[in-house]
Formats: sequence, structure tokens, C-alpha cells
Amino acid sequence: MNELAGKHIVLGLTGGIACYKAAELCRALIKEGATVQVVMTAAAQQFITPVTLQALSGRTVYDSQWDARPVNGVGNNMPHINLSREADAILIAPCSADFMAKLLHGRADDLLSLLCLARPLDKVALLIAPAMNREMWAHPATQRNVARLRADGATVFEVGSGDQACGETGDGRMLEPQELLEEVIAFFQPKTLTGQQVLVTAGPTYEAIDPVRGITNLSSGKMGFAIARAAREAGAAVTLVAGPVSLATPRGVRRIDVRSARDMLQAVQEHAPAATVFIATAAVADWRPASAAEQKIKKDGSGKTPELSFVENPDILATLAQSPRGRSRALYCVGFAAESHDLLAHTQAKRQRKEVPLLVGNIGPATFGQDDNALLLVDELGATELARASKLSLARQLIANIANRIGARG
Ligand code: CTP
Repeated sequence: MNELAGKHIVLGLTGGIACYKAAELCRALIKEGATVQVVMTAAAQQFITPVTLQALSGRTVYDSQWDARPVNGVGNNMPHINLSREADAILIAPCSADFMAKLLHGRADDLLSLLCLARPLDKVALLIAPAMNREMWAHPATQRNVARLRADGATVFEVGSGDQACGETGDGRMLEPQELLEEVIAFFQPKTLTGQQVLVTAGPTYEAIDPVRGITNLSSGKMGFAIARAAREAGAAVTLVAGPVSLATPRGVRRIDVRSARDMLQAVQEHAPAATVFIATAAVADWRPASAAEQKIKKDGSGKTPELSFVENPDILATLAQSPRGRSRALYCVGFAAESHDLLAHTQAKRQRKEVPLLVGNIGPATFGQDDNALLLVDELGATELARASKLSLARQLIANIANRIGARG
């Protein structure tokens, strides 16, 4: 995908062992279509050479405010002005504790800090990926600096946790290149759901027959996970209630793993009171075995098959849509309909039966496990089609559509 096509990013490296990850990050940004201009401090060059970054970015690395080389044909001897004017964002990764302190005070005694101070605040975002020892990270001075940098408008990413180069273990590692890439992509998405709390269900459910067997379905969870990611990118606080799937949790999303439909309902009911939007993408099993055997059901050699009887599972979406908050739309409910045929008619009927303002139809067998999909948005006025695209692209379109609707809710 070309998630960063057309974006120009100044990638600033300061002194820290995480500089080795910046090389991979540089590649990842370029792979997503960004152009990358690397600027390094003298300390960063103790850890990795400009040659490496020059080769990866395909551009000369800058490291001095006295550099007289022309930038894009402009030869005014002012790299701090020229480099900052063409950028969409300055991403400092790794950003040392010392460099954060420097930024906070508006100091500008090297090219990178000078560039940050000289950037047009309203046009060029400042994104900071801290990297340091756990004691340095936990120090009140660092935490104070992080809070004040955020208050000054910078985006300071979280840190990772784990083994550190110094041999200690704890918070302060720089996020991994792929995690940072996801954060940078999210940063550029429109913030249409700021202040909203979005609850999403995803994946199949698993209904036990005995301790080793059960009933499930082919839902991969990909659409629901993409929706959770898109909602978070749009600025919402997102809780994702997931059936058994082996997908990575989107960054910044709170995930609750469940197994059966009843577990899913319980988790949803626990989080629904705080939610303002509920999106049910899970392929919930309609029925479960009336009772699960406590021990594995064994063959007795006679060829006799076990008798299974079923009871209906609760309808999670209908329960929420028909609750007082669902009916008043304080909780805006969106459902999905997985159909095999007659998509429009079935989706319309299902929308009315479950009493949801918006039901999204898709052809189940054509989407399960796939990376792309096509959607039909059905509301009381009619149907709108979202043409076949990647699940993430559709998820973003759907989130923008929902944001419009709840904007209209007032
Ligand atoms: N759903 C739910 N709880 C259930 C069944 C479905 O929350 N027990 C939700 C799904 O997450 C989806 C919507 O209801 O958002 C429709 O699911 P679908 O499986 O298409 O419909 P069913 O209600 O199961 O109807 P049918 O099997 O008759 O098509």
C-alpha cells in the first residue's frame, strides 16, 4: 500500500542505540511512498553513520547548520529554513532525553533542534519517538518534558517495554519500526471521531461441544480489526472484543479476547455504558450446543453418532440496539450482515428486525479470510455501495460515513 504517498518527512536521529532501528524505519517510510530527508545530530553519528541513512533514503544526510550546499536548488546557506519548509512532518526517532529537554526550551544550537524551532507550527507536525533507559524515562524531569512538549503541540509517541541495551528491563525502548510506521500513518488520518468511544466486536465465536471440540465459522476478524484500527486513527478511544483469531492488535486499541457468544455479550455489556458507537462485525454463532460435555465424547465402537441439540445464542447487536441508549442513539449501533445471496433485500430486512440505524451488507463467502471486500451501507433512506477495496480502505470510508452520521446526531 502507499499509505504515505505524497508525504515528505524529515527523519531526525539523535544519540541513542535505537538509531539502528531508524535505518529500518527509514526504509519502511519510503516503502509506503514517503520521501525522507534524514538529519542527524553529532551524537546520533556515534551510533550509525550518515552513509547508511544516505543509501536508504537516497538523499544526502544533513548534520550541520553551517552546511552551505543548496537544498532543492536553493543555495542561501540556510538548511534549517529550506529543510523545514518542504516537510509535512519532522519525525525524531530516536529522540533522546537530552534532545527532548532541548526542544522544550526552544534551544537551537545544532541543525535538528534549529529545524524544529524554525518550522511553521501550523504546517509541519513534530512527531517524537522517545528512546532511553527506564530510569531516565521515569524521571520526573523527563515526564514533565513529555507533558509540556505535548502541550506545545508535539505528538510524543508511547515507548515500548522490555530488555534494554544497558541490560535493564522496563519502559523506555523506542517503538519498533513497524509500530512507528503505523503511528505515523495514523497521524495523517482525519480526526473525525475525536472524543468518541467506539466498541467493536470481531471474529468468530467458538461454542464448545466438549473440552476438545466446538462449533465455529470461517470469519477471520480482518474487517473488524481494520475497523478498530480506522476508528483509532480517526481519534476515537477503541475497545475491541475479539473472538478466537490470531491477528495482531491494532496500535492503541484495547483488546478483550473472548470465546463464546455469551462471553462476547458479557464483555460488550460491560463496556457499552461508556461507548458512544457500537460496531458489530463479529460472526456470532447463532446456536450453541444445549450443553457442553465435561469430558471428551468417546466413540464406543458401535458406529453410533452423538446426538447434539442446540439452543439459540443471545443476539448481541439487537440487545444493544434495542437498549434505551441504543434506541435514543446515544449509543449509535452499526451491524454487519454476512449473506450468501440477495444482499440488499436481506440486509434491509435484517436492519429492520434488529432495529439498527445502519447495517452494512457483505457477501460472506466472498470476504471471509480475504484482504479485500465490498460493502453495501443500508439505512432508512436506502443503500450506498462502497466499491471493492482493501478492508482497511473500506474501514476508513465506513468510519468517515459513521462520523458524518453521528455529527448529524448533534
Ligand atoms: N449478531 C450478533 N449476535 C448474534 C448474531 C448476530 O451481534 N447472536 C450481529 C453480527 O455481529 C452482525 C449482525 O448481527 O453485525 C448480523 O449477523 P448475521 O450473522 O449476518 O445475521 P444473523 O442475525 O445471524 O441472521 P441470519 O443468520 O438469519 O442471516
